[in-house]
Amino acid sequence: MGKNLTIIIAETAGFCFGVKRAVNLANRAPERYPDQPIRTLGPIIHNPQVVEQLAARGVIKTDDIAELGPGVVIIRSHGITRQLAARLEKIPGLTIINATCPFVRRAQEIVAKMSERGYEVIIIGEPDHPEVAGLISYGEPERTRVITTAKEIPERFFQQKKPARIALLAQTTQPQELYNEIAGALLPIKGELRCFNTICTATSDRQSEVLELAGRCDCMLIIGGRNSANTNRLHQLSLTRQPRSYHIETARDLRPEWFAGVDTVGISAGASTPQWLIDETVTALQKLASRS
Ligand code: F3S
Repeated sequence: MGKNLTIIIAETAGFCFGVKRAVNLANRAPERYPDQPIRTLGPIIHNPQVVEQLAARGVIKTDDIAELGPGVVIIRSHGITRQLAARLEKIPGLTIINATCPFVRRAQEIVAKMSERGYEVIIIGEPDHPEVAGLISYGEPERTRVITTAKEIPERFFQQKKPARIALLAQTTQPQELYNEIAGALLPIKGELRCFNTICTATSDRQSEVLELAGRCDCMLIIGGRNSANTNRLHQLSLTRQPRSYHIETARDLRPEWFAGVDTVGISAGASTPQWLIDETVTALQKLASRS
């Protein structure tokens, strides 16, 4: 690395719209509700530094609804189940700040509406993901299913005499190609197929840009929580184009030996990485370059 190190920051690096909204709501809560206990149900986002900062301001994570009493609870961006929402509403003196991303909320509403109208609802997604658990809860249990591949489409959809009525949607972070493949596989059913494209492009935009950057940089840094699935995915994608791709949580993780002979460093960050962690990394890199 020389003094003329070029640092390119991906335009899509960092907070997506839904995460920014959730973190803003959490940040404003102590002023809006002074002297009240403020809890988030689970970590507000998968970034330990942001969770720590909020804790220092009195916004504390809890995983147990039994710990909630009078005060404030913040629901995180990927939403909660309908049953859990109903339980929260029954807690006396509890104010609910619903930070569910509007895109996730829209998908929940589609499941509820199509279920009510008698459709079989198919959700493409990871069965154990909290967003998916939330989505399923809005459907009729016998007529709502989660699938991960086209092979899991029930055979009976193609065989039954009565025309099928199917509504298809996806967890917001699913790949568009998978959605297209499953929608295509459902086309031959006899009956009606309603396709709702609930995929949010924040994830795919980040992924395309990382691939493009990794192809033209000598080294890539992906910043984000070790527990952040979308950050890990960005790192994996980056490695496919640039073996010198490193996943860091903060600037403290930087190792000078990574940058030997490097002229251009590309930086991206997961959807739950705050801007200050990106800025801090850039400053640390510039310092390293100036010393070399
Ligand atoms: Fe919302 Fe898309 Fe982010 S669904 S939480 S804006 S990844």
